[in-house]
Amino acid sequence: MADNGKILVVDDEPIVLRSCERILKSEGYSIALATSGQEAINILQKDDYDLVITDLKMPEVDGIALIKWLRNSKPATGVVVITGYPSQETIKDALNLGIIDYLPKPFTPLVLIDVTAKAMKMTMVRALPEKTPEEADVESKTAALEKIIAENRNRPGSLIPVLQQAQGLIGYLPPSVQRHIAKGLNIPVSEVHGVVSFYSFFTMKPKGKHSVKVCLGTACYVKRAEEIIEKLKATLNIDVGEVTKDRKFSLESVRCLGACGLAPVVVIDHTTHASVDPVKTPEILKQYE
Ligand code: FES
Repeated sequence: MADNGKILVVDDEPIVLRSCERILKSEGYSIALATSGQEAINILQKDDYDLVITDLKMPEVDGIALIKWLRNSKPATGVVVITGYPSQETIKDALNLGIIDYLPKPFTPLVLIDVTAKAMKMTMVRALPEKTPEEADVESKTAALEKIIAENRNRPGSLIPVLQQAQGLIGYLPPSVQRHIAKGLNIPVSEVHGVVSFYSFFTMKPKGKHSVKVCLGTACYVKRAEEIIEKLKATLNIDVGEVTKDRKFSLESVRCLGACGLAPVVVIDHTTHASVDPVKTPEILKQYE
């Protein structure tokens, strides 16, 4: 399954391209190949990639020219360079252009996998937005967040408890909070982001004043739960996982709320609404206006 990110590998040596493709595909990346800098630019003009792994020495449009083009046209794309016998100057030029890392030829599969995984993680972290409008709320809670971090700073395994308390305080864990915690605990942001995205009980999105959960478990599904969710999406004008503009409602789908005898079930805040008729969902919402 290729869902770990999209990578474009650029090299004028077909054997290097083929081995990178084989190794990286087996790690779950989606791979495209280009045999020259110009071909890479043509591909990148049509599609976005998370990471470009490129040789430096290529005829006509070389690796440095490609990286310069990327910095201007696709600044969010991460770059790793492959190079045979790099001079200090070449590496300095590439580093000045913001490359993440470099792979000295010849490299082993393990080195390729390791450098790619780190570069992909860094690219994802860089892509986190600097600040969202919702994060303005967060600033008012900075002192309390600092206290949580200070109380846990030197405790082993403190990251998850800190994240739980921070989410309890703020309601969710936006990128600015993740960066704050990483700095406070002196660990990489990528580690914090990795834990937040791994555990389903952490959320990076704010919740509405009222949280609407629609059960899509089997018992509810066969009793038109999907129609309920479609009706709620249309009434609230949001998708699942989103919050209304006035931040009154957030909509989630869940798997079995343990009340199958009451199917189909919608839970709003702490109230269970049983045997919900899809047509009547707007009336239920009115109780929370
Ligand atoms: S399937 Fe919906 S409550 Fe169990």
